[in-house]
Amino acid sequence: MSGFLDKNKQRFLDELFDLLRIPSVSADPAFKDDVLKTAEFLKEKLIAAGAENVELCPTDGYPILYGDKIIDPALPTVLVYGHYDVQPPDPLDLWDSGPFEPVIKKTDIHPEGAIFARGACDDKGQVYMHFKAFEGMLAEDRLPCNVKFMIEGEEEVGSENLAPFLSANKEKLACDVILVSDTSVIANDCPSITVGLRGLSYVEVEVTGPNRDLHSGVFGGAVANPINILAKMIASLQDENNRITIPGFYDDVAVVSAEERKMMNDAPFNLKTYENDLEIGSVHGEEGFTTIERTSIRPTLDCNGIWGGYIGEGAKTVLPSKAYAKISMRLVPNQSSDKITELFKKHFESLAPDSVKVEVKPHHGGEAAVTPTDTPEYKAAHMAMEKSYGKAPIPARGGGSIPIVALFEEVLGVKTVLMGFGLDSDDIHSPNEHYGVFNYFKGIETIPYFFEYYAELKK
Ligand code: BES
Ligand code: MN
Ligand code: MN
Repeated sequence: MSGFLDKNKQRFLDELFDLLRIPSVSADPAFKDDVLKTAEFLKEKLIAAGAENVELCPTDGYPILYGDKIIDPALPTVLVYGHYDVQPPDPLDLWDSGPFEPVIKKTDIHPEGAIFARGACDDKGQVYMHFKAFEGMLAEDRLPCNVKFMIEGEEEVGSENLAPFLSANKEKLACDVILVSDTSVIANDCPSITVGLRGLSYVEVEVTGPNRDLHSGVFGGAVANPINILAKMIASLQDENNRITIPGFYDDVAVVSAEERKMMNDAPFNLKTYENDLEIGSVHGEEGFTTIERTSIRPTLDCNGIWGGYIGEGAKTVLPSKAYAKISMRLVPNQSSDKITELFKKHFESLAPDSVKVEVKPHHGGEAAVTPTDTPEYKAAHMAMEKSYGKAPIPARGGGSIPIVALFEEVLGVKTVLMGFGLDSDDIHSPNEHYGVFNYFKGIETIPYFFEYYAELKK
């Protein structure tokens, strides 16, 4: 493979650039044609790479790209999952170059250069590594087992149409393991395999004061301002130890063993570098837990957006009728997304004084997942990374969410291995998202080893 990779590096970059130029923003209907174009683009590339039965499967939302290569039904089957949709690029003015005009630039962390574009790391770059690794394995006649691809276009908006697709296509998707590259490694000289993801409960809240906007001089002082009230309500959701105050919130939180906590905290991490990189005076979080723990094994509550009243140029004196916020809670194993949403709703409504009305609207959610390390797939990923990085990877829990991982297990009864190649500093979901050229090629190099070792271990 390394021969094939070496000979094709420029083409692999060029093709990824073409993919990154299509703005597949799933959250915004204005990009609908581009999201569909991206699905078509990948369909053609999957066919060109040598996959069979390639089709865009319609859903109530964006289509799911399917393709496979069954070399022998008696051999194990790996299903590769990823997503072709991306987050909205805004705020646009904070990008140093166009979000859909990929360029390679060197950075301190990526001295060999990184590809700057929305989706470069999350997840187009990582999906495309799989296409090219597959192409290489076929070209060199060394595909050791069966492969299926399932690439969706709604991951960034909650994968709502994926669950019904899984239930309706169990046969088609039957496999021995699911392989996902949509997470990160600790550092390029410290490979790791993600063994946990957090769940998510996401809500929007609306606080209504008076029935219309009012003059803040004529009425101010006598009528509740929904923005002031909302700010107080949100602030009260965490106590002085930064613990969440919703009754019952922590009831089901899985306790992590002292042994696992020690292992997590032994992984390379420098608090000063972390603070300096983010230009913060100090980190902030739940008392009694380290930064690594706070971002992986502990649940959180964050306001993602808050608005209301006048936000235009200059000053307008107004006591607004409404205020809004979007609030997310990251969940950990054993917490149920639906239950937490219910607890939030009940508590938030109870916080509202008589002077306002409160409405809580649930958005998408998902369950946390932990992936075992005593399986052939984990071992295969371990061996593959050890071979390509020249260093054994360590298990590490991630703080993000990929709700489909828990669903895969529930609906298909199949385990997932999370072998991602990004870095947490790659600015996914943020302006100037990038993906190391080193990481892209390292993924293409590592994936065939995974297939090789997995097929061997399953014998
Ligand atoms: N690839 C990310 C999740 C991720 C990133 C996991 C880094 C671990 C490390 C994924 O595309 C994502 O952003 N998921 C969303 C959840 C979804 C329901 C919107 C998230 O975590 O916010
Ligand atoms: Mn992703
Ligand atoms: Mn994402």
